[in-house]
Amino acid sequence: MKAFIIDKYKSKDGGRIGQVPVPEPQADEVLVEVHAAGINLLDSKISNGEFKLILPYKTPFVLGHDVAGIVTKVGARVQQFKVGDEVYARPADHRIGTFAEFIAIKEADLALKPKKLSMEQAASIPLVGLTAWQALIEKGNLKKGQKVFIQAGSGGVGTFAIQLAKYLSATVATTTSAANIELVKGLGADVVIDYKKDDFEKILNGYDLVLNSQDGKTLEKSLRVLKLGGKLISISGPPDPDFAEEIGVPWFVKLIMRLLSSGVRKKAKRLNVGFSFLFMKANGAQLKEITSLINSGTIIPVVDKVFPFELIKEAIAYVESGRAKGKVVVKMK
Ligand SMILES: NC(=O)c1ccc[n+]([C@@H]2O[C@H](COP(=O)([O-])OP(=O)(O)OC[C@H]3O[C@@H](n4cnc5c(N)ncnc54)[C@H](OP(=O)(O)O)[C@@H]3O)[C@@H](O)[C@H]2O)c1
Repeated sequence: MKAFIIDKYKSKDGGRIGQVPVPEPQADEVLVEVHAAGINLLDSKISNGEFKLILPYKTPFVLGHDVAGIVTKVGARVQQFKVGDEVYARPADHRIGTFAEFIAIKEADLALKPKKLSMEQAASIPLVGLTAWQALIEKGNLKKGQKVFIQAGSGGVGTFAIQLAKYLSATVATTTSAANIELVKGLGADVVIDYKKDDFEKILNGYDLVLNSQDGKTLEKSLRVLKLGGKLISISGPPDPDFAEEIGVPWFVKLIMRLLSSGVRKKAKRLNVGFSFLFMKANGAQLKEITSLINSGTIIPVVDKVFPFELIKEAIAYVESGRAKGKVVVKMK
């Protein structure tokens, strides 16, 4: 089958389309014929070696973390899915490879695709939807009436997180540049700050929660918009000791993570606010809840561009430009 293969970390050509065998699903897996695959910055971060300590993939491997497609085969122990089902997923770490014609995915990581969505729209959802869910609901415990600051509201994570926070009846502040102000307002953002013109730190205060997705300087400033006891959840680093424990890395990696986050942890402690790092995980049960929110019209996908599979490198480069409005998807079928 056709697949987008990484032969070497940090390679200049960034990967190639080649042939690999169709995977055979294990007893707890289904084989999915890929119709569309969403692109994430994580794909670039893995192929350029940035994530090698956390997620060491042995080359050559097939890249890709988001998929929508049709079940073509089921393993002997699979109970919830059958051949012909339209599904979507963010497959688990070490089981990635959605930039291909087929992928085997654990039943536990899969959900039925929202009925209203095209394959391309559905493929845009899993990784960013689960990230927003795990940040705002699981870790952030965001409640009705609370105030949340979601950085980069026009990005993949931001466009989903704004809608999820509004569903939870929170007040949402976000940052974006002038061209995307109407987009984020349309998604429900209450306070919109043009980050090129205004300093969010001078405008926001007393926030219960921050979803941090930008650089270290933005993270530091964001700690100061929180109320006492508020929480900052960062998805752009630095990784903290709890995360190191959770993923069970060797002692020296734990030490590196402790050191990388020691400055921000100290600052948070001084301000009496919480800091934690989140690296999202595959989760079919949460994705099923997201399917319901999409089927009821509570959350809509925001897809910027769809590229044919043959132009996958252009699709990845567009995401790397940092200018995408919502998500970028490649179409396999
Ligand atoms: N830890 C995890 O589990 C996890 C999961 C998902 C994503 N992430 C990380 O989270 C970050 C965001 O991911 P994403 O997929 O949402 O990115 P994305 O879709 O590529 O973000 C692009 C958007 O960011 C906006 N933007 C760029 N610089 C900005 C700034 N300084 N302030 C506010 N907005 C800005 C752009 O708007 P303008 O064009 O208007 O500037 C654009 O719409 C990435 O670092 C990604 O790797 C982590």
